[in-house]
Amino acid sequence: MIPEPAPTVRELLAFYLEAGVDCALAEEPIDRLAELDAPPPAPRVAPPVEAPRPVAAPAAMRGEATPAPDIAIASAREAARTAPTLEALRELMQSFEGCALKHTATRLVFADGNPQARIMFVGEAPGRDEDIEGLPFVGRSGKLLDLMIGAIGLNRSTAYIANVIPWRPPGNRTPTPQETQICLPFIQRQIELVNPDVLVTLGNPSTQTLLGTREGIMRTRGRWFDYDAGGRTIRALPTFHPAYLLRSPSYKRLAWQDLRAIAKVLAG
Ligand code: URA
Repeated sequence: MIPEPAPTVRELLAFYLEAGVDCALAEEPIDRLAELDAPPPAPRVAPPVEAPRPVAAPAAMRGEATPAPDIAIASAREAARTAPTLEALRELMQSFEGCALKHTATRLVFADGNPQARIMFVGEAPGRDEDIEGLPFVGRSGKLLDLMIGAIGLNRSTAYIANVIPWRPPGNRTPTPQETQICLPFIQRQIELVNPDVLVTLGNPSTQTLLGTREGIMRTRGRWFDYDAGGRTIRALPTFHPAYLLRSPSYKRLAWQDLRAIAKVLAG
C-alpha cells in the first residue's frame, strides 16, 4: 500500500477550522498523547513559604479544577455585592477565578459605552472579534447593533452595552447553565450600578436569564417587563439579537417596532 502523503499545513489548518478550532490557547502545542504515556506525577510537596511564585499559567492548562459551580456562584454573588463602582466591579471580575471560561478567553469583555446612559443593552456572550478587542458587539452583529441604535438617534456615547457572560466561550459554543449562573451576579450588579431607565435584552439567552422567563423571544419581544435592580424597578424590553436578524432579516420589521417603542419611552 502506498502511504498517504503527510497533510500540508494549509490542509491541517482547514481541518482544525472545520472541527471548530478557531483560536490558539497557548504559544506552544501540548502533546496530550505523550502525557498519557508519561509516568504519574510525583506527589506534590508544598513549596517553601519564601519560594518565588512561578508566573501563573491558566488554571485549565495547569490541570487545576475551577471551584464547584455552587461555590463559584456563591463567591460571585459575594464579590459582586461588594463592588461599589463599575471600576471596582471590573477589577473584581478580572481577578475572579470561579469561571472556567476566563481561562480559554483572551480577555475580559466588560462593557462599552457611557455608564451614565439612560439605556443599557445586554447580549449573551462575546464572540471572536469581541475577545480580540475586549469590547462587546464589535463584530458583524455589533455593526448591525450600531445601525439599530443609530436609527433611534443613539450611539455608543449615549448607550451602554454589555453581555451576560463577559468571557468568550471557546469556539462560540453556548455557555452552560452553570457558567451563566456564575456570571449572573456580575451583570446584575453592573445593571444596578449603571441604573439605566431602560434595559434592552438582546435575544433569548439574555432575556431568559435576566428577566427570569422561560418564554421564547418570539413571545417576549416587544413586551415590557419590570426588572428588579436591587429595590429599584427598571423597564425592560426584549428584542431580537442582531446576530439573529443577520440570519433572518425579515424580522428586522419587528425589531424596528421594538426600537420605536424604546424611543417613545426615552422621549416620554
Ligand atoms: N454577541 C453577543 O451576544 N455579544 C457580543 O458582544 C457579540 C456578539
